[in-house]
Parts: sequence; C-alpha cells; structure tokens
Amino acid sequence: VGRQIDYHACIDSTNERASQLARAGAEEGLVVLAEEQSAGRGRLGRSWRSPAGVNLYASLVLRPQVPLNQAAQLTFLSAVAVARAVEQISGLQVQLKWPNDVLLQGHKLAGLLNELSAETEGIHHLIVGIGVNLNMTADQFSADLRYPATSLLLATGRPVDRVHFAQLLFQELEQLYLLLQRSGFTPLRLAWEALCDLTGRSVQVDCGSEILYGTVAGLAEDGALLLRTAAGDIHPVYAGDVRPWPP
Ligand code: BTN
Repeated sequence: VGRQIDYHACIDSTNERASQLARAGAEEGLVVLAEEQSAGRGRLGRSWRSPAGVNLYASLVLRPQVPLNQAAQLTFLSAVAVARAVEQISGLQVQLKWPNDVLLQGHKLAGLLNELSAETEGIHHLIVGIGVNLNMTADQFSADLRYPATSLLLATGRPVDRVHFAQLLFQELEQLYLLLQRSGFTPLRLAWEALCDLTGRSVQVDCGSEILYGTVAGLAEDGALLLRTAAGDIHPVYAGDVRPWPP
C-alpha cells in the first residue's frame, strides 16, 4: 500500500481519480493523495469539506479476490487502520461507530468512503477513501455538520506531521489487508469490536422504517451489526443509525 502514489495539489475527489485509474488498470496498492479537494465526496451523497494543506485525503485501489458477499468486511479495514495510526501518532484512543465512523471524544475525526465496482463474476476493484482531520482549525469546519467534528490538532494542541501519519496509515492498511487475506475476517472483526465503545451496550437503532432496541453483540461475517434483542434473539442490522440507549 502506498508504494505507488498519485499526488495532486488540488483535485475534485481522490475517490473519483482513483476509480478512473482503477478502471484504466491501476495496480492494487496505488494511493491517490491530494492536498485539497474541490468536490470531496461523503456518504449518502453529502460533500466532504477538504481545505488545503491541513488534512489527509487519500484513496486506495484494492482488487480483493473475494466473493461479493464478503465485500462488506473491507469496510472495517480503514476504520481500524485509522484508529491504529492515530494511536501511534498521538497516543489517543478513538471510538469506532458502526458502520464506519471514527470518533474522538464523541466528535467526528475521520470519514471513510468505500466504493465498490462489481462485475457478475465478483469484485472488479474497491476504492477505499479516507479523510482524516489532522491539522484543521475550528474556523475551518462548517457549521452545519451532522456530528460535531474535531481534528488531532484541536484534540491535542499539537500539529501532526502529515507525511508521518500517511506512512503509519499505509503500513496499517497493508498489514490488516494481508491479515484479512491470510486469516479471514475474525482478527479484523475482533479488532473493530474492541474499538467500538458500544459493543456490549444497550442501544437504539433507527433504521428509518423501524426503531430497534437491544444490546450490541458484534459484527456478522457479512458486515451487519448484530443486535441482541430483549427476547434474546440475534438480529442483523444492515443500515441505520446506532446510539446508546437510554441516551
Ligand atoms: C463520510 O461521509 O463520512 C465519508 C467521507 C469520506 C471523505 C474522503 S476524503 C478522501 C476520499 N475522497 C473523497 O472524495 N471522499 C473520501
């Protein structure tokens, strides 16, 4: 991971650029990096604020040789890698929130956007998009964020060496990706569950059409969040907003 880097001072979106390169045959492990994004993409069609020179905006090209129904396992790769890189550079422990938020003291520190390109035979390529708020200052956040956000600079008072952070992150991504290939989902699942502070806790899950209550039992092989209901059954959740209950 990151042996080959496609670097840009400013680009619309590193995910967009990485998908173009992947479609044109780019090798697995290629990383697109930018100092600034003019049209950074977030989940659910939102935009991702990407001011110049302060944060990390990266997109990794992967070509996983796994069946399509295991693709969701790769969602957890970048969350755990970001958590480990943050801990190494700052000593701080982040909390992971299902499906793929990285929080620091309840504030959003990183955004992750996996984009899968599938064919009938399986996965063609996967773009792992990672945005980490490193040295962003309070005035650089927009006011209308769904979650309050933070950066490592705001949390620690010290600026982060972005190149060093990127090196740590690429190392962790590579190790976890190799581990997933060698040993299957279990080690990655356990690492994710340990970093999710809602594991074992009582939660409410707002799925849009219904609201579920239960205790977080962990992750399923297909990436679903497992909820143990009051009746004792295990219920997989594929989409929804999870929060502690009672609040
Ligand atoms: C989210 O909505 O939480 C996901 C945000 C993902 C942002 C990153 S920044 C690098 C990569 N390029 C993009 O356009 N988006 C992702």
